[in-house]
Amino acid sequence: MTNSAKPINLFEYQALAAGQLSQMALDYYASGAGDEITLQDNRAAFAGYKLRPRMLVDVSHRDLSTTILGQAWQMPIAIAPMAFQCLAAKEGEMATASAAAKLGSMMILSTMATKSLEEVASVRQQTPQWFQLYVHRDRGLTKALVERAHAAGYQALCLTVDAPMLGRREKDMRNQFALPTGMELANLTTLKDLKITQRAGESGLFAYLLEQFNAALTWSDLEWLQSLSPLPLVVKGILRGDDALRAVEHGAQGIIVSNHGGRQLDGAIASIDALSEVVAAVGDRVEVLVDGGIRRGTDVLKALALGAKAVLLGRPILWGLAVAGEAGVQHVLELLRDELDLAMALSGCAKLADIDSSLVVR
Ligand code: FNR
Ligand code: LAC
Repeated sequence: MTNSAKPINLFEYQALAAGQLSQMALDYYASGAGDEITLQDNRAAFAGYKLRPRMLVDVSHRDLSTTILGQAWQMPIAIAPMAFQCLAAKEGEMATASAAAKLGSMMILSTMATKSLEEVASVRQQTPQWFQLYVHRDRGLTKALVERAHAAGYQALCLTVDAPMLGRREKDMRNQFALPTGMELANLTTLKDLKITQRAGESGLFAYLLEQFNAALTWSDLEWLQSLSPLPLVVKGILRGDDALRAVEHGAQGIIVSNHGGRQLDGAIASIDALSEVVAAVGDRVEVLVDGGIRRGTDVLKALALGAKAVLLGRPILWGLAVAGEAGVQHVLELLRDELDLAMALSGCAKLADIDSSLVVR
């Protein structure tokens, strides 16, 4: 790619990626549920928060490193778990993981990955990786996944709780979304041959969740999940303070405030708007992270000022992957990191601990 054609922000990656992907993949990646109101709100809500920068602070050296669950991260920007990354590029999750490792960004690998958790673990360097768990009806299968994740060195289990069923994604219904031949649920082949196949008039993924996921999961199952391995549990998909407290009471060590990128319950509150209530409820008893609509360094700064320890980045990673594979993911992470670095300098913050709630006002 020539320098003049190289994207200079995450939105430009999205525009370029659209030309690289099949219609089915693009629709699956980009869509939200229903009328996509939550998808739009996730972005729009950031504009409602204004920054109150401090002046004449020595910001000649900036430090973006942090510690989450006792783990060292080089930046407070991690990669959200996202299914089926081989739809974006042949190397799929392997390319994402390599880019994350080079940049010191923590990656969360999805249960629904198209590369196996063992393969992805093989490119890990100093920065940890977490494994995102979807609980299937078959408890043995869930147990085996947790044990494999632990054996492969993943350092936390991220339990996604906002998907007892799949959200209504109408483009996926129209496209009869299915994985192309040759692409598989790489974590679920050795356990039981689970597949996302074409279904008349519906999304194959919707049908899969209906048949395979455990929609009866409740808070009391958290103890069982924690008994399967010594890994700390992080609960992803919380939008209320009372649920956050419940997660803590059931042993969670981290909470990810998220509406699944607007892909589950349409009309759900923007995740940045849900963050303060969660932070107020749990204080610093657990690590609070947030995702949804983060596209600018200033979005990251606002999220940290509102009390998040770190953020997760979703779709832009897939756009980088589609445009230029591993190098694209790496560049997306660099762009966001450098934008955060600049936003910190301009607001009088030399390190993450300098980012406090007085920096933001609504
Ligand atoms: C997701 N997300 C998701 N979450 C999860 O817990 N397990 C998964 O397998 C997936 N899969 C997935 C696929 C795709 C294509 C997308 C776009 C998203 C949700 C994801 O982790 C995250 O919450 C959102 O993507 C964050 O919002 P942004 O950054 O995409 O706006
Ligand atoms: C999604 C699921 C797989 O959002 O989490 O598509």
